[in-house]
Amino acid sequence: MASYSLSAFKIRLINSILFENFNKDVPLDRVFANHFRKIKLEPQEQSLIIDLVNDLIKRLNYYSFIAGYNKPKDGKRHINKLICALHVENKWPVPKNLPECDDFSEKQAKIRKEQAKDIPNLRYGCPEWLDLLGRKELGDRWDKEKISLSRKPDRYIRVNTLKVTREQLCQMLTASKIKFQVCENQEDAIRITGNADLFKTQMFKDGFFEQQDCGSQEIAPYLQVKPGMRVVDACAGAGGKTLHISALMKGKGVIIAMDDKDWKLQALRERAKRAGAFNIETRHIDSPKVIKKLKEQADRVLLDVPCSGTGVLKRNFDTKWSDNSNDIRELTEIQADIIDRYSQMTKRGGILVYSTCSILPMENQNQIETFLKKHSDFVLDEQKTVYPSEGGDGFFMARMRRLTENELADTNAISDSKEDGNNDTVSAELSEKNEAKSE
Ligand SMILES: C[S@@+](CC[C@H](N)C(=O)[O-])C[C@H]1O[C@@H](n2cnc3c(N)ncnc32)[C@H](O)[C@@H]1O
Repeated sequence: MASYSLSAFKIRLINSILFENFNKDVPLDRVFANHFRKIKLEPQEQSLIIDLVNDLIKRLNYYSFIAGYNKPKDGKRHINKLICALHVENKWPVPKNLPECDDFSEKQAKIRKEQAKDIPNLRYGCPEWLDLLGRKELGDRWDKEKISLSRKPDRYIRVNTLKVTREQLCQMLTASKIKFQVCENQEDAIRITGNADLFKTQMFKDGFFEQQDCGSQEIAPYLQVKPGMRVVDACAGAGGKTLHISALMKGKGVIIAMDDKDWKLQALRERAKRAGAFNIETRHIDSPKVIKKLKEQADRVLLDVPCSGTGVLKRNFDTKWSDNSNDIRELTEIQADIIDRYSQMTKRGGILVYSTCSILPMENQNQIETFLKKHSDFVLDEQKTVYPSEGGDGFFMARMRRLTENELADTNAISDSKEDGNNDTVSAELSEKNEAKSE
């Protein structure tokens, strides 16, 4: 970076952004939106402020260390000291006379900056609680994922094939001078390589694409939907995956999008209108009856459950600075309850997909294992973790099939025969039956 200090105006702006995020618990993207609605800057200046604040919050432990404190003992972040540390990091002259910075020593800060080079958790902005949990859950793999989670996320969009083809959208992007790269291994994904403000484009307003990470775009195809099916998306939120499912169904059949928060479904309805996804019904889960009513009704069920979000920390890095390990343990109970009860909406012979944006086995494989032990009428077809080190965000998905009545009877016969020690005869009978069926 250039060797100049930030102007007093930019320092005040950064201070105000950090204050709102730290003290008023407003998510960072909303804080940026609030500030840049009121204050108009040149695009380059705005990007500089965003990059500086993002790095500061992403590596808050690193900047706090340089600033000379590890944890805010008085419960408050010393924002101006952090801003001084930001100057040290960028080799800019430290501003003089900032409030609460009388005891900030530039010399000591430079020494601490050197020391921090040997402390990976500071270098990669990893809080202690997350490091402990990540290592416990992922073993040696964690080191690699920790580094990836500290990187700047790429931007991806999904072509809305209800309205345009990928080829048509690429032509429009080129005509609008928006830089991009087509993702070869994914049908509808495009990586946006420049800084274009996509949401202001007519293409977006016309619903020709949605912003969606490439990993997230793997989940809807995992359901193996077909046009005309009845699909339940039970934790639909604002509908990122619901819209994708609708496109894969070519708008034919029905998707019942549910959530326990009605306001999210309102946002979903608006997005669906823009996307031209007219086969979506929304249902607010305001009592367990809403789920019971759909018992064995759906060809496909997606359970994109609430989770720790450890796979999407490249993007949601402001959430990691409070110790979330207890909340994650509570979340695993909610996840287990959701899969236990909501799975019952799957028709016999239908498919159930469980997914998270977590990379922790405790929210993923372990949940599937427990579920399958309890529900012998479901079998695992395939499960997969997409890791942040593969380029995009981290996700987990598991596809299970609910056995038909006949398959279930056959399975029960096999387990009975195992108990009777009469395995050979029944297996032979089953394979005969299956051969006859497939002819
Ligand atoms: C990971 S988010 C879903 C994201 C969404 N599928 C998408 O693609 O944009 C999980 C959602 O589950 C919802 N949720 C939490 N507890 C729930 C419950 N018991 N039943 C249904 N939805 C629930 C949350 O409100 C949240 O919208």
